[in-house]
Amino acid sequence: MRDIYEKLVRLAKRRGFFYPSFEIYGGASGFQDWGPLGCSIKTNLENLWRNCYIHQEGMAEIECPTLTPYKVLKASGHVDKFLDERLKCRKCGRQWRPPAGERCPECGGKLISFTAGLMFETKIGRDVEEPAYLRPETAQGIFLNFLNLYRHFRKHLPFGVCQIGKSYRNELSPRKAVLRLKEFSMMEAEVFFDPNEEWPNFDKQKQKEITLLPSSEKHPVRLSLEKAVDTKIISSKPLAYYLGITHDFLLDAGIDPSKMRFRQHRKEELAHYAKECWDAEAYSDRFGWVELVGIANRTTHDLKLHSQASGTELSVEKVLKKPKIVEVLKIQPQMGKIGSLFKEKSREVKAFLEELDPEKAAGDLKIKIENEEYTISSDCYKVVRTREKVDHEKIFPHVIEPSYGTDRIIYLLLEHAYRETEKKGERYSILGLKPLIAPVKVGVFPLIRKDGLPELARTLDKKLKEKGVTTCYDEAGSIGKRYARMDEIGTPFCVTVDYQSLEDDTVTLRDRDTTKQVRIKIKGIGNYLKKELDRN
Ligand code: GAP
Repeated sequence: MRDIYEKLVRLAKRRGFFYPSFEIYGGASGFQDWGPLGCSIKTNLENLWRNCYIHQEGMAEIECPTLTPYKVLKASGHVDKFLDERLKCRKCGRQWRPPAGERCPECGGKLISFTAGLMFETKIGRDVEEPAYLRPETAQGIFLNFLNLYRHFRKHLPFGVCQIGKSYRNELSPRKAVLRLKEFSMMEAEVFFDPNEEWPNFDKQKQKEITLLPSSEKHPVRLSLEKAVDTKIISSKPLAYYLGITHDFLLDAGIDPSKMRFRQHRKEELAHYAKECWDAEAYSDRFGWVELVGIANRTTHDLKLHSQASGTELSVEKVLKKPKIVEVLKIQPQMGKIGSLFKEKSREVKAFLEELDPEKAAGDLKIKIENEEYTISSDCYKVVRTREKVDHEKIFPHVIEPSYGTDRIIYLLLEHAYRETEKKGERYSILGLKPLIAPVKVGVFPLIRKDGLPELARTLDKKLKEKGVTTCYDEAGSIGKRYARMDEIGTPFCVTVDYQSLEDDTVTLRDRDTTKQVRIKIKGIGNYLKKELDRN
């Protein structure tokens, strides 16, 4: 008996959802092509995501290169910490994920453990080849643009920036179709905020109940987001807020609510940049709980490390609600002494001392004036501790990151939508996809291929297309077979032109989920269908 995964892989290949990449050359594990229907679902999903994050949440979208210089990923910690513990067979060289036993499951050779970098290396540059990587996440491009984006948002926190695009990881991915790919698509948002400010809009989400599996528990609990924050299961409102947003998005896309949960990472599981992380997981018939979205608290990790490594400070000036008194170290030039020693060059010496970092000023100092070196003796300045009133301070914003894996979500949407029915001893498969996600929205058929029915059906098909409804015109085979073909790819509605249509300008409209048919007027059918499809 085939399981849903096998049935879906066959259906995907036959109808054009996804295909194994490079198949005619024997294929390559960890790569997957999206076919025509798969691409259409992907576009629909990305648009639903844009609608959520950009239109509703007010974020901005950017697009950065996938090739990334070595120094960027060295600074972010990926070069040294984005690693995979593996086992390698001494005899055949095959690699395995631990635990795989002491012997190679393929040839019986001895296995040795080693650490593999997860990024693909390459080179960039024209004259001098510099090392580089294919990006392992889209996030870094957003961090590097922090100052541009802060300006775009008129220097107000919080703000969020999204990126949709490909990322690359040199994963071991044996036979998992679209779940563990070496090249995959992500939809990521980086939300920059001041943790000392109240998180806006939490009230919109606080009563939402979701299923949580905290790292300290064996069994999931169902809690409102407010309760989860109050009991410190989720450590902050912004993090809880994006669990709520992710919950709604996945349900809108069609993930089965009874097969969804949020699981907290254990300490040892956390990525090197994360202080806390919750995965939105969906249950798969074959693979068990699968991570679809990671929602992480990245704190100031990336902005601070890129500031240090690049020399460009990725921080903001925060105006304080109340000015405060702070202790500061200051250099006080001793002008009497400086004047007697340096005469007309005193101004240069004073300016030099005032520019100096007081933490670093000690003992005699060297200064170059008009190409001549002078020594400023330690009695020319004092380092003093003073109290000053300040009305603004420099802060590194914190970051919450909801990061969605597009390919995995699509696979789970297909799995959760899949069902079967039997008619006259024949089995049929149906994809109960949400109308917003379905690749084709309406099937248009003439009952038979004569007597003017195809012409009328084609005219109707054209009208619907002009209204922006994605249709599929089909006149081949029995009407039952045509319905079955549409059910199998998740088409929510079918319209059939029959003899009565020629008399009273009506058609039958069939609903995929109820299989009920109603007669409706051709006039106004476009608007009617658009409304029904928007209902989702
Ligand atoms: N910037 C954060 C980040 O990259 P992640 O949890 O490593 O977080 C986010 O990845 C999402 O990307 C995952 O929840 C998963 O859905 C998807 N993903 C990660 N690795 C993948 C792979 N090898 N193949 C397909 N999807 C993957």
